[in-house]
Amino acid sequence: MPLSASERSAHTASLLSGCPVVPVITIERSADAVPLARALVAGGIRAIEITLRTPAARDAAAAIVKDVPEAIVGVGTVLNPGDLATARDLGARFIVSPGATPDLLAAAAASDLPFLPGVQTASELMACLAAGFDIVKLFPAVPAGGLALLRALAGPFPGVRFCPTGGIGEGNAAEWLAEPNVLAVGGSWVAPPGAIRKGDWAAITASAQHAQALMLGR
Ligand code: 3PG
Repeated sequence: MPLSASERSAHTASLLSGCPVVPVITIERSADAVPLARALVAGGIRAIEITLRTPAARDAAAAIVKDVPEAIVGVGTVLNPGDLATARDLGARFIVSPGATPDLLAAAAASDLPFLPGVQTASELMACLAAGFDIVKLFPAVPAGGLALLRALAGPFPGVRFCPTGGIGEGNAAEWLAEPNVLAVGGSWVAPPGAIRKGDWAAITASAQHAQALMLGR
């Protein structure tokens, strides 16, 4: 049964409550998926977003769901209702999209899976609110206007919480997390593509620990 807007919001907030830093992962080789997820979990990260951007993404997400139960696996780059169904079938616990089309919002509203639609304008945000989503991804956060945009949106939309991604990294994540309307930040910096390619799991665990340290300052 579809959730009410407040049930949906509470469900999404509770899923992400211990996870203010969400690595955004694009996997080229599905064999990397499980060691990578274990490296992140060893560094204290639980929620991870696997993007549907590569042929390996589906196998990667399914393998992590099966073999790394400590991870809260989200599927990202969900562009349409078909991708949403794929993500659900893969066992995703949450869904992320770079945008918020009417079709996708309607499909997500009919599902009980936490869904973070992507916005960068007031009108996109209003469409999300009308569909029952008040926790959204701000994307691409830095190119779209950075903290100034986030703070400007806080005025007319005081009840909205954001999960910014795009241009966030070790140098600015703490600043974003310090904003009262930011629930979590995401980005590729926690598990950089170069480290994944090299299979440098120790570096990824260290990076995850570092990202965790950012949370402690919250
Ligand atoms: C995303 O998919 O959310 C972003 O592409 C991640 O952006 P970043 O690579 O700048 O962290």
